[in-house]
Formats: sequence, structure tokens, C-alpha cells
Amino acid sequence: MTVVSPDNRRTRREFPPGFAWGTATAAYQIEGAVTEGGRTPSIWDTFSHTPGKVANGDTGDIALDHYRRFREDIRLMADLGLTSYRFSISWPRVQPTGRGPAAERGLDFYRELVDELLSHGITPVATLYHWDLPQELETPPTGGSAAGGGWPSRDTAYRFADYAGLAAEALGDRVSTWTTLNEPWCSAFLGYGAGVHAPGRTDPADALRAAHHLNLGHGLAVGALRAALPASAQLAVSLNLHVVRPLSERPEDLEAVRRIDAVGNRIWTGPMLKGRYDEDLLQDTAHLVDWDALVHEGDLAEISRPIDLLGLNYYNPTVVSASAPGQALPRDDGHGGGTASPWPGAEDVAFHRANDDLTAMDWPIDPTGLSDCLLAMHREFGLPLLVSENGAAFQDTVAPDGTVHDPERTAYLRGHLDAVADAIAAGADVRGYFLWSLLDNFEWAYGYDKRFGIVHVDYDTLVRTPKSSAHWYAGVIRRGGLD
Ligand code: FCB
Repeated sequence: MTVVSPDNRRTRREFPPGFAWGTATAAYQIEGAVTEGGRTPSIWDTFSHTPGKVANGDTGDIALDHYRRFREDIRLMADLGLTSYRFSISWPRVQPTGRGPAAERGLDFYRELVDELLSHGITPVATLYHWDLPQELETPPTGGSAAGGGWPSRDTAYRFADYAGLAAEALGDRVSTWTTLNEPWCSAFLGYGAGVHAPGRTDPADALRAAHHLNLGHGLAVGALRAALPASAQLAVSLNLHVVRPLSERPEDLEAVRRIDAVGNRIWTGPMLKGRYDEDLLQDTAHLVDWDALVHEGDLAEISRPIDLLGLNYYNPTVVSASAPGQALPRDDGHGGGTASPWPGAEDVAFHRANDDLTAMDWPIDPTGLSDCLLAMHREFGLPLLVSENGAAFQDTVAPDGTVHDPERTAYLRGHLDAVADAIAAGADVRGYFLWSLLDNFEWAYGYDKRFGIVHVDYDTLVRTPKSSAHWYAGVIRRGGLD
């Protein structure tokens, strides 16, 4: 909503009452304490300990030691006035090895975390899967009877639903908003296609199998959550939908958009929100997988169980053209190197930068992609929306007086919050904004090189220092909008 003051000189962008002002984090990126309380390795522990997979050989072994310092971190959130916090639960911490009973010590950590949030008036939003699959579900111990095989294996979807049920039983009395998967596109296509994320496999057919089993896991988990939670629970999924734009209006470039939209976006929204895989997606990938064998009777009904909110993670738009050898960007579309394609059935599509105004990730800055995406999802599905991630990495420097001044991040955030306000003004029902991220953290294949936090972390001392963007965000929250 835009409010123009009587003298017409000041314009304020206000957000709806009850709008969630949050930040987001993920377990492996911040917790550390990887062997505490019976936690077993996840695929990210294994991947980060494999030479050459992560910049500088960085791992999440210590990360920000949030596992021990969570009270200090929640105090920071309270000082900033955050009303909501999206965190992820580490599956191997609460159900070591990915099957069997829950680990009470693991659950206790999240009980204490949530209680601490609630005692500061901060609403918890729990994500069940932010990429840390228990390693034993990827590679079962030799001699065991377990299926293994990771997400390309159907069994993993059922294991995920069991874990969702355990987590909901333990935390459902104090957490009412849940997200099943974070960015399943990354899990399937960066993890099993491009191999730049854990577990580092590069088989396009397995990537598609993983996609279907992530969808199935989502649907089964929604069922398990509904069974364990009160009727008032709000269930969501967080998708990194690709805002795909054509390099030109040439038919072949529009066709490139169609193909990336199919395997980047509709492969999730189709089954989850419409109960179907679109015919063009099936055709584009028919030479890689036998979809009739992959999708069992009843799967689509399971996957399309209703959810209450759709979470969108947005960083930058994607510009594509038909094959343009020599001119294209690395085809991973943003998450780190690799020579194999994360786009099965669309390997020859070329990627281009939307503009040259770049963050430290080399991601172009264009807030219009966020309002476009929110409005497109609002019009197509009519669901309440969350911006479940948005933010930017920049090369922050600590001034001699210890302060961190990051005007570029503030400008990025201001532009994107303005885009959220635009979408709301145009009718989208956006319920909250979760800034990525509260703290500088382990940025997957980039290790600790890329800083996304509004709070700076000194990785030698683990001292936290709010950056100027944090103070700016606190002001936005205090005023309930942008000036
Ligand atoms: C998203 C991830 C999140 C973080 C940001 C920068 O794709 O969900 O963990 O890495 O990118």
C-alpha cells in the first residue's frame, strides 16, 4: 500500500498488519557441533570433507557455533526487532542415520531454540529439509539391508515423511508454521545433475528421479505434518522459482524460456499445486527417464495435498537464449562452477546476465524479478505467499573502529522490499519477508568466502557485529515499512 502524506512530499510504503519481518538461516550453514548429541554425518559433511568440492576446503564442522551460541543469536534478533525467524532442522541431528527413533538430545536443541525465540516474541518457522540428507540414506553401511541411493531412490521420500512426523510430534506444540523442502531444484539438479552440491553426482536421469522423489517426499511429509499438528498449522514449501526472461523475442529464445521454465519451475509447481507434470516437461525429458515407471499410481494425489502458503526464494532473474556457443555464462546458473549441466533435457540453452549490476556472487541485481514472480504466483495459484529468502553477498570490510558499513546490501534490500510492496499493491497476498541471512555463514560450495549476513561474523573469534544494513532493517521493522 502506498500512503501519500497530505503535503504530498513524502511517500511511505506500508506493509499489511501482522506482516512477518524475518531472517532465514539453515542448520548446516550455521550450527557446527557436527558430532554433538549423536548427530551423524549428512551428505554435506561428506561433500565438504571431499577435497576440491568446497572453496578453501571449508566445512560446516564449526560454522558459527550457533549450536552453542543460539541464545546470543536470538538476542541479536530481538535487538533488531525481528518478529519471525526461519531456521532449518538438521535431519541427522534429530534422527541419526535417517531412520528409526528420534534422538531426544537433538530434539532438545530445537525445543530450547524455539522456546528462546518465543520468549523474545519471535515466531519460529521451521524448515524440515535444507539439504542435509543423512549420509546413510545416500550410502547405506556395507552389509546392511537399507535401500540408500539418496533422492533418486523412492525409499528416501518415505524416510523423509517419517522424519517430518517425528519432528512435528516433538515441536508441534510450539511451532505452527512449517516448510517441507527448501529449494528442491538445488537438491535435485545441483546435487545429482551438475554435481556442485552434495552428494556431487552427475547423472541427468538420477537428477530427474530425485526431483520426483523430492515432490513425493513433500506430499508425504504434508500428510505426516497434518496428522501430527493442530488444524491451525500453516504448511509451506520454499521454491527457488527461476524468473526466466528471453534474450530476444525470437521464437527459439522463447522456446528456451519454455524449457527452463518447465524443468526449473513447473516440475515443482505442476505436481505440488496442480497435481500433474506438464506434457512438455515429460516430452523434453522422455529420452532420459521413463516417467510412467517413475510416477506410481496415486503419487500425484499425494504430492498435491493442499498447502497453506507458498514460499519463494528470490535472488536474481535468469536470461536465456537458444544455444549460443562461446557467449554463454557457466550453465550452473549461479551456485558454483561445474561442467555437467543442471538442466536435463535443456542442456543446450544458453544463460546470460540480466545486467552488470552484480553482487559478490556475480548475480545481477534486479528487484523487478521479485515483484514479477510474486504476482505470477498470486495470479496462477491464489495462495498466500512468503518471501522465504532474499538477500545479497557483498565484500564487506570491517572498519578500524570495528563497524561494518554495507550500503550496497542496504540498497539491495530496500529495492527488493519496495518490489514486495509493489506486488502487494497489485493484489498479491504476501505475508512475510525473510531476509537471507541473519549471519554471515557457510555458503555451500563457496565456503565462507561469500558473506550474506546483516550481522558480520569474524571467523577467527566468532564475534558477531551487526552491519549498518542490520540497523537499517531494524528501522524498517520499527516503522512497519519503507520511507
Ligand atoms: C539459496 C539457499 C541458501 C543460501 C542462499 C544464498 O539458494 O537456499 O541456503 O545459500 O541461496
